[in-house]
Amino acid sequence: MKYTLYIFCFMSVSSVYAQDVKLIPQPVELKMSPGGFQIRDNLSIGYNKPEAKPIAEILAKKINTSTGYQVKTDKKGKIMLSLNEKVDPALGKEGYTLVSTSKSIKIEANEPAGLFYGVQTLLQLAPKEIESSTKINADWKIPAVQIRDYPRFAWRGVMLDVSRHFFTKEEVKKYIDEISRYKYNVFHWHLTDDQGWRIEIKSLPKLTSIGAWRVPRVGKWGTFEAPKSDEPATDGGFYTQEDIKEIVQFAQNRFITVLPEVDVPGHSMAAIASYPELCCTKDPSIRVNPGSNFAEWPGDGHFVMSVDNSLNPSDEKVYAFLDKVFTEMAALFPSPYIHVGGDECYKGYWEKSDACKRMMKLADMKNTEELQGYFMRRIEQILKSKNKKMIGWDEILEGGLGPQAAVMSWRGTQGGIAAARLGHEVVMTPNPYTYIDLRQGDPSVEPDGTSYLYVPLSKCYSFEPVPDSVDAKYILGGQANLWTEKAPTLRHAEYLTFPRAWALSEVYWSPKGKKNWSQFVDKLDGHFERADAAEVNYARSVYDAIAQPKMVGKKLMVGVNNEISDMDTYYTLNETMPDKFSRKLTEPVEIPEGKVTLKLVTYRNEKKVGKVIALSREELISRAPKEKESKIN
Ligand code: ACM
Repeated sequence: MKYTLYIFCFMSVSSVYAQDVKLIPQPVELKMSPGGFQIRDNLSIGYNKPEAKPIAEILAKKINTSTGYQVKTDKKGKIMLSLNEKVDPALGKEGYTLVSTSKSIKIEANEPAGLFYGVQTLLQLAPKEIESSTKINADWKIPAVQIRDYPRFAWRGVMLDVSRHFFTKEEVKKYIDEISRYKYNVFHWHLTDDQGWRIEIKSLPKLTSIGAWRVPRVGKWGTFEAPKSDEPATDGGFYTQEDIKEIVQFAQNRFITVLPEVDVPGHSMAAIASYPELCCTKDPSIRVNPGSNFAEWPGDGHFVMSVDNSLNPSDEKVYAFLDKVFTEMAALFPSPYIHVGGDECYKGYWEKSDACKRMMKLADMKNTEELQGYFMRRIEQILKSKNKKMIGWDEILEGGLGPQAAVMSWRGTQGGIAAARLGHEVVMTPNPYTYIDLRQGDPSVEPDGTSYLYVPLSKCYSFEPVPDSVDAKYILGGQANLWTEKAPTLRHAEYLTFPRAWALSEVYWSPKGKKNWSQFVDKLDGHFERADAAEVNYARSVYDAIAQPKMVGKKLMVGVNNEISDMDTYYTLNETMPDKFSRKLTEPVEIPEGKVTLKLVTYRNEKKVGKVIALSREELISRAPKEKESKIN
């Protein structure tokens, strides 16, 4: 009897703590024990070497802010951060061990980055209230665990486009901090595009006095009126070089490398608005684009630009311009790479340009892809002269590439595969898995119902960065990429980023064999609560029902294909709001003819979790695969 009681107590204590251990990304090894460590006032956080002190201070600050305690850093402490005297090879540069008991917490690593990641894990072990920016009451216990952890990939990035919408210095820092919490180590900063040039280049002042500003527009991106010639450009902003130094340092303190991108030769309308002589047409009426349409898609996969946004590859002045840009950038960013874009370069104005035609003839170039190849190799040489390596979007492969250049694969994985086979280093960011600007739930309830691809959380989670046919040594890692045409605020950037960047953090950090979708889903709620405490926005779209309409003969049948399998879906067809007292949808139901709307809602563990999705019969019919496709299915 005593024995049974003992076992019972043991199990209940350990399971209470086990419930709290919901780490994202999942560590390599995690063992749980009963009991835990109580964080108390006046506790010391120790560090064994000066390089560990700033990380101890990050932890102390986080604890003191939410607990109201006076935790200090010192040479010794009950929480101890130690850099290994003898390197533990398996942990590498970023790995760590974390052991917590009722008496102490020890985080050990070979390098400071590992201690930082150990601290992020420790913060996820703490109650969610640790994320509060003001003093709050909680039971400040850390469960007893033994963790050994290190990343699968050395490159774990998130890209933020600050051209389509400008984010202030403080917003960029907040975003960097948020991704650092999930062990990302690259912040890819898309600094220039058609809609704004955001980096101060002192030797080229018009890039920011003109290129950083556009006429203001509000509403649906892509539908806006083009700028009128005399309309004041009042919307925008840029980062001074002092701002950039501050952001780079802020990121470095979190072991994040800032990868700056200047997107050339295409996507350069803001630069051209500043210096029209840089493009073939030299058209002085070109202005920074405010989100109005400037491209036609004739339907053959190509596009035609009505405004010239490509730098002129035949003009030496363009290379002199880029030399100035990259000289100043190389001095600002410690990153070994500079991203030069290279994507979606419209070559129609090159084809019409006498200077380009002359150059192609002289150099025996067969097409304008080769002309872009020439441009990219010139850029690579410029970067080399500044001790920097080039990385660009996968289009840079098309015209031939220097051997040192790295490729970021975005049009699926094909570009990455081709690049790796040629021996280039590759960062995998295929749009169907990692473009977190794209729609993540039902179009009727998502802000951007019209995005060209559907990238739900489960799709991000299913991403495997190393294709079968490729030597893994060429795949540096991957990213989540956030384009911001449809993200005018940081709150919405967060909505698009989380939880998809959490899913991708597990793809890039955790061992392939540790990935488990249903376990990941079970960890989500805890992370949503932590995000609430930190006042970080996120999307709960993964909980929404996914309707699957199908025509069976003349009948419209609708089932669901939810991302989370253990949810219940309830529905109505009678214009009432569905809840768990409505009919449960367990198999496809027929939608009768007439003016009928299907309303769906989901529950998990008896709790309503999804939004109400309302789909008219006409909408469902338009979504049903056509007769031929349903036969294939
Ligand atoms: C891209 O999405 N154009 C790289």
